[in-house]
Amino acid sequence: MCPKHGYSGLLDVIYDYDAINSQTSPSAVSSRREFSIWRYWELLPIEDRQAIPPLRVGWTPLYHASHLGEQLSLSNLFVKDDGLNPTASFKDRASAVVVAKAKELGVEVITTASSGNAGAALAGLSSSARMPSVVFVPQTAPPAKVAQLLIFGARVFLVKGTYDEAYDLCLAASERFGWYSRNTGYNPYTVEGKKTAAFEICEQLGLMGAGRVKEWRAPDRIFVAVGDGNIITGIWKGLKDLLALGWIRKMPRLMGVQAEGAAACYNAWKAGTEIVTPVEAHTISDSICVGTPRDGTRAVRAVRETKGAFIKVSDEEVLEAMRRLARGAGIFAEPAGATGYAGLAKAMREEAIDSDEETVVVVTGNGLKDIPSAVKAAGQATTISPSIQELEHVLAP
Ligand SMILES: Cc1ncc(COP(=O)(O)O)c(C=O)c1O
Repeated sequence: MCPKHGYSGLLDVIYDYDAINSQTSPSAVSSRREFSIWRYWELLPIEDRQAIPPLRVGWTPLYHASHLGEQLSLSNLFVKDDGLNPTASFKDRASAVVVAKAKELGVEVITTASSGNAGAALAGLSSSARMPSVVFVPQTAPPAKVAQLLIFGARVFLVKGTYDEAYDLCLAASERFGWYSRNTGYNPYTVEGKKTAAFEICEQLGLMGAGRVKEWRAPDRIFVAVGDGNIITGIWKGLKDLLALGWIRKMPRLMGVQAEGAAACYNAWKAGTEIVTPVEAHTISDSICVGTPRDGTRAVRAVRETKGAFIKVSDEEVLEAMRRLARGAGIFAEPAGATGYAGLAKAMREEAIDSDEETVVVVTGNGLKDIPSAVKAAGQATTISPSIQELEHVLAP
């Protein structure tokens, strides 16, 4: 709540784009040897470089996935693998910036609620910065994610309830105990971290382009999974920054993908409203199993204003997407991480996209975070005795 204007909503960080353009340029940024989100220093809300946590976050690969593209009849498909961040999800981008800000502010304890990944990211980044963290996750969070929280030394609370209930408890706890809240859709700096994925996509696409002059370039579409709606809002913010600076020429269409069982933003978009009505959430994609999206209005706005679309996919389509990404591009995604691709596959089946559109899919989390779901997608291995005869028998047509 703004003490001056009484406005209660999410704050936006505003930049002086003329000042930034007088300090740097796309080619100056591209010549930097800082291969992390901090290469975009002038576009981030941190003033003290000493506050940056040591873990390397960002500058994840953008693969030209030609084989996957052929399967979908898309000639220009790119996959950004954000599962390669230090705690293996996109959420490291947000946590890196929030932990840096917390250091600048002299914060003693930092907290978040999480379906798993934001918490793991906060735990890892804050441990590297020697700052205690407290994380609230639903008791049902995948064991690998809970193990990440514990090994990084966070104080972990497994909440007997949903992510939405863990979120409310965390907010109440941060007020009661004076902890700094990193919560998604509450702390304005998460979006500032997440927008760096948009910077990287446009810079990396430019670097891959033909010709000697490597201009940063926005793709035609970006597909990403949506739970609370903060990632898609962050990507939108990054693109708006670049457009305002004149570093890219167009705004891509943002394509938000939700699980059928947790489709509150999809429903609002479909109904033509920005008011997101909560749903009772259930899906295999635990990271986007969100009933009350905390940044839902901005997510719907991002999709509407960029002339994109929301798509909802079934758990079966997500499992198929996990297999396709792994077998067609060698990228192992957790269910939510594969959801963006599942949405693209569906859009292609429905012929909603032209075959020559330059399309980026963001893989937001690594498959090792949720082994039971991977096994569900991949099936079981064959068990045999150490005998060549038995092997021959099994292999016989
Ligand atoms: C792997 C993964 N994908 C997608 C999302 C969705 O992000 P948001 O909740 O900001 O929409 C999350 C959020 O936890 C996530 O962990």
